Amino acid sequence: MIFKILLFSLFFSFFAHAHEINMEDKNVEQIVKKRMSNMSKIKAHSTKMHPLTMTGEFEEIKNLNDEMLHAAKEFKLLFPEGSQGGKASTLIWEDRETFDLFIDNFIKAIEDVGESIDNEDSISLMENFKIMASNCGTCHKKFKN
Ligand code: HEC
Repeated sequence: MIFKILLFSLFFSFFAHAHEINMEDKNVEQIVKKRMSNMSKIKAHSTKMHPLTMTGEFEEIKNLNDEMLHAAKEFKLLFPEGSQGGKASTLIWEDRETFDLFIDNFIKAIEDVGESIDNEDSISLMENFKIMASNCGTCHKKFKN
């Protein structure tokens, strides 16, 4: 009887565990896919924004910038423990403090672009866009493979 119970619980714990591993694998894959898609969006939006910074089309650039801000804030949350993968350097999980600092700087830079747009100030908009765009390379050099 004891043997039967043991066998029974072993059998079920095996399946429970297998299920868990499957789910985890799937989640990591989805997280990596999501953060890559956020980055692709950030790239597409910033590329579209660049010529608009020089032509004073504030409404269109504001929409793009707001979406980029949202994508960047979400991006920060897409690196939980154990989600190593894609082109993300493992250094992200070893030096989270610096990675978070880089993302926070990036978010702040996008917000500064937003402020220039709200003020309809083309001069500061061009300057702040340049600062925002300089964050891409700084972070990639350290945290992207
Ligand atoms: C705080 C860090 C950080 C900043 C700032 C940043 N990136 Fe990235 N980027 C990453 C990381 C990390 C990856 C790899 C993500 C992965 O593969 O899981 C990445 C990936 C990418 C990719 C590849 C996406 C794909 O589908 O493979 C592109 C394109 C990209 N970034 C463009 C940009 C542009 C353009 C900017 C600036 C406007 C920018 N990034 C700012 C960290 C950053």
